[in-house]
Amino acid sequence: ADPAPRPRDLAGLHVVVSAGGTREPLDPVRFLGNRSSGKQGVALARAAAERGARVTLVAAHVEVPTDGLAVTAVETASEMALAVESAAEVADVVIMAAAVADYRPETVSEAKIKKEQDVDGLTLRLVKNPDILRGLAALGRPGLTVVGFAAETAPDREALLELGRAKARRKGADLLVVNAVGWTAGFGADDTAVVMLDADGGIVAEADGSKRVVADAILDRVVALRPR
Ligand code: CTP
Ligand code: CA
Repeated sequence: ADPAPRPRDLAGLHVVVSAGGTREPLDPVRFLGNRSSGKQGVALARAAAERGARVTLVAAHVEVPTDGLAVTAVETASEMALAVESAAEVADVVIMAAAVADYRPETVSEAKIKKEQDVDGLTLRLVKNPDILRGLAALGRPGLTVVGFAAETAPDREALLELGRAKARRKGADLLVVNAVGWTAGFGADDTAVVMLDADGGIVAEADGSKRVVADAILDRVVALRPR
């Protein structure tokens, strides 16, 4: 069912949303990636636009249509960092819905890696990528509202909340949206369930349903966080 018409409560705000999953190249034909579909990020971008925001979507391999949205396409975590950080300079809200690779191969082979090179196996050395969300939160720029996601594999709600609380405190974002993922749940699904935490790890809201319904619930919290 179509969501009820929303107020244009984000009018005048510039909202940057990252979506999808970054890919880190190993050689010209291979990459390290993840299962993010980009559905939640694109739902957030559409919802924010309908609520009156100017929206920039920084998209890494999203599997859903982005027609009508202003899209900056990126491949890697480093490219996403550049795109998000430059968009953030003039933004009021940044929502990091993308699954950003934590590590990238230390070297990218110019030529296709050949299996004759390593007889028994292949050892990859990975180096850490910049943490975009943490960097934005650490800026502490007045007037910039920073929202992160935490996708966790946890056996139950308490374990999920414990991981979420620790991440909320580590990241320092104004809002951390925690959801459970697994081999079948989360990435790529049409429905989702989230718990929203503040920077201290306290629960501020919960939502479940379509990714669009959850997007609007997240934006409700963003509106509540905005200075007035
Ligand atoms: N994120 C980011 N830059 C990275 C990694 C993650 O901005 N290099 C953002 C994600 O977009 C998300 C949030 O940080 O909004 C949390 O991502 P997650 O992978 O759950 O947390 P990590 O801090 O990377 O910790 P871990 O993967 O070890 O659980
Ligand atoms: Ca991570």
